This record gives sequence, structure tokens and C-alpha cells, in this order.
Amino acid sequence: MAAIDRREYGRSMSAGKSKNPRRAERRLALMVGAAAMIVAAFVGARLFLADPAGAPGGPLYADPQDRELVRLGRSVYAQYCADCHGANLEGEANWRARRPDGTLPAPPHDETGHTWHHPDALLFQIVEQGGQAAAGDGFKSRMPAFGDSLTDREILASLAYIKSRWPAAIRDRHAEINAQSQ
Ligand code: HEC
Repeated sequence: MAAIDRREYGRSMSAGKSKNPRRAERRLALMVGAAAMIVAAFVGARLFLADPAGAPGGPLYADPQDRELVRLGRSVYAQYCADCHGANLEGEANWRARRPDGTLPAPPHDETGHTWHHPDALLFQIVEQGGQAAAGDGFKSRMPAFGDSLTDREILASLAYIKSRWPAAIRDRHAEINAQSQ
């Protein structure tokens, strides 16, 4: 029988206490997991900040280059918007002149109107919540709220269609307005 080498024994005991390979592995896995979560949160926040609501890629961006969206928007527009804003986006006659009842006629959505002066996020809000909610008290709006009758995608589609009808120069200026609003 070989005598127990106490020094050897002592070393292996202390190694077992603090350097248990299983425990070390677990600790490493936890650290890697935590680091991955921090990186993911950081990247997520960056993505979110880089793509705010109405910016290209953002959730409220009405992309006039997206053909499928524009096609959907054309039919949404014809069905829900053309009666007031005109089949050709021309708006109602004398759209700047207030009516006797205090409301405004529907403005054109082509480049002669001021739809393109507003960023996507605001246009979305006007269509979703209606002109009254957007303008507040002291103003009487005829622009209905479509939040209950249209999906978010249909609202975005109607805007994408409107934008697809603008000349390139107006679209460029609107892209700047979109960017500045972020
Ligand atoms: C019953 C008539 C009517 C219908 C239908 C209608 N609108 Fe309007 N819309 C208006 C009027 C009137 C205004 C002017 C602002 C106001 O009075 O609130 C307006 C304003 C707007 C504006 C703001 C334009 C700007 O230059 O500030 C947008 C955007 C708009 N409408 C989009 C739409 C879309 C998209 C649809 C269809 C989904 C639609 N509207 C359907 C009457 C209408």
C-alpha cells in the first residue's frame, strides 16, 4: 500500500474547492450569457434609435418605392380618400377658403398642397386619429379618423401611394423633412 502523500492530497483538495472545472464552466457560461445580453440590448437600442418612427426602415415609414404597398394604397385611396381629396389627388375646389360652417375643404395631396410639408409620422397620425384630434379645439375638421376602419398597413399604404405620385424633387424635400423630424 502506498502511503498517502499529504502534500499531493492537500493540493488536490484545494484544487477541488476553487477550481472545480464544472463550476468554472458554469461561471464562464453565465458570464458569456450576460455579455451577450448586454451586446444584444445595445445593438437593439442602436437599431431602434437609428430607425425612428418615420425614417426609412422605421415602423411609420410610408415607402413610395415599395410597389406592393403602393398598389394596396392605390385601392385604399380610391375607396376611402378620393371622394374628398379627388381621384387625381387634386383636392376640392378653393381648398384654402373656409366654408360657412367653419370647416376647410379637403386639400390636394399632390405637390400643390401641403401634405408633403409634414413628416410621415404626423401624416400617419392625421389619418389614424382624424383632423380633429390632430388640430385640437378651436378648429372644426371634416377629415375623418381611419384608425378603426383601416389597418396600420393600409394607412401607410395610402400615404405611400400619395408619395409615389409626387415629382422626385418634392419627394427629396419630403425625405429631408422626415429626417429633420426625427
Ligand atoms: C370626408 C372628407 C375626407 C375624407 C374621406 C378624407 N379626408 Fe383627408 N382631409 C379632409 C379635410 C377637410 C382635410 C383638411 C384638414 C382638416 O380639415 O382637418 C384633410 C386633411 C388630410 C391630411 C392633412 C393634409 C395636410 O396638408 O395637412 C391628410 C394627410 C389626409 N387628409 C389624408 C387622407 C387620407 C389618406 C384619406 C383616406 C384614407 C382621407 N384623408 C380621407 C377631408 C377628408
